[in-house]
Amino acid sequence: MRQFVLLGLGLGLSLVSAQSLPRRTPKPLAVNQWIDQQTQASTQKLIQNISPEDGAPGSVIASPERVSPNYYYHWNRDSALTYLTVLHLYRNSHGDQKKLFKQKMIEFADFSAKLQNTSALGEPKFYLDGRVFDGAWCRPQNDGPALRAVTLLAIARELKANGESALADQHLLPVIRRDIDFVKNIWRQSNCDLWEEVYGDHFYTRMVQRRALIEAAKDAAWLGEDAGALKAEADLIGADLQKFWDGGRNYFVSTLNRTGGIDYKNSNLDASVILAALHGHTDDGFIKYTDPRMLATAEKLIQTFHALYPINQAKDTVGTAIGRYPEDRYAGANFDGGNPWVLLTAALSQYYYRVANEFTAQGNERDASIAFFKAEDLLRRVQYHAPADGALAEQMDRQSGYMTSARDLTWSHAEVLEMFLARSADHPGTRE
Ligand code: NOJ
Ligand code: NOJ
Repeated sequence: MRQFVLLGLGLGLSLVSAQSLPRRTPKPLAVNQWIDQQTQASTQKLIQNISPEDGAPGSVIASPERVSPNYYYHWNRDSALTYLTVLHLYRNSHGDQKKLFKQKMIEFADFSAKLQNTSALGEPKFYLDGRVFDGAWCRPQNDGPALRAVTLLAIARELKANGESALADQHLLPVIRRDIDFVKNIWRQSNCDLWEEVYGDHFYTRMVQRRALIEAAKDAAWLGEDAGALKAEADLIGADLQKFWDGGRNYFVSTLNRTGGIDYKNSNLDASVILAALHGHTDDGFIKYTDPRMLATAEKLIQTFHALYPINQAKDTVGTAIGRYPEDRYAGANFDGGNPWVLLTAALSQYYYRVANEFTAQGNERDASIAFFKAEDLLRRVQYHAPADGALAEQMDRQSGYMTSARDLTWSHAEVLEMFLARSADHPGTRE
């Protein structure tokens, strides 16, 4: 991978002179310099958003923004993904900071136990003291417990490997058991999607549910579960996931059997499929990053969003800014949004780094380098719109490129840090 990094850098220097896009800094930093700077900023902002002063230990605010949109809540999905990144930061840290990360991970497990005891497991959103959000909302969202189980299983493995089994047994085991039990029993049920808009069966939700069961099967003895039964259930989800391939449209669709919610998502093309490839990745060869169907979906997303967003047409030298789905209207005062998202552009970049790693492992250097350059271009798109202080919001305005909607979205910072990890040669194919 090293030769790609060097090549990518050389290319970066010539590409950053793009003139016609809105600029944050008079002279953009070289890619590696920006990565160092943004890594520090994103790490710091992510830490600020976990266990805020006015919240319970272990809670995570989706964003410090309290008005328009009010994201000052704990979401199961955002927090589980954030804590997987905290685990990765923990691995790369030392001394006091490492201790702090460990403490936070235990607090997250304890807070999760509290949430499990106060509400149905599919509840998506909570006040920071752990009470369930009682307003009207799209619920249940069944990806949350699956994502949390994946994160807590990974943390438990790390603790056990470091001789801290007692901590894992006491704080994590009971929480994971309940989440896995839930996933095992309810994965067939129709529920609300990760964008909190559509009821039905969702590719993203089923992918992460399948992964939770596969991961649990590896630790079945510890969990007091039957590995064979978990794998058999995961295989059923796997068979079901094949139905989301639409050969006519040549991409994985995001929702089947829609039963309610918004009704204008006609393309059924959604960047959550790429998130599913990442967050639902398992090392057993199931829907690999290089699966031609996944590659086709990624290409379709790029073509579609390239044509849709003005900032993507301004100049071709950085990658395509990616949104949720083409018909999206969120956010904006009059629901006139439908912008590209930071976390999705970072996720697609991350996806292509992982594609490159997988092709390399297969001895296919040619396709690996093509994928690597796509990843680099997408990373440079994020860099292009990132302000000098590293504050990454939820969205980038489709016209101006400026950060918009929820500021310092925790999930944006987490997904950008994951993009950087995927880029570094030390982190091969598997996302965990
Ligand atoms: C808030 C949700 O978080 C967002 O994803 C959605 O688009 C809007 N509500 C509209 O349903
Ligand atoms: C809206 C997104 O659609 C949803 O996925 C997320 O959980 C919330 N915002 C909070 O960040």
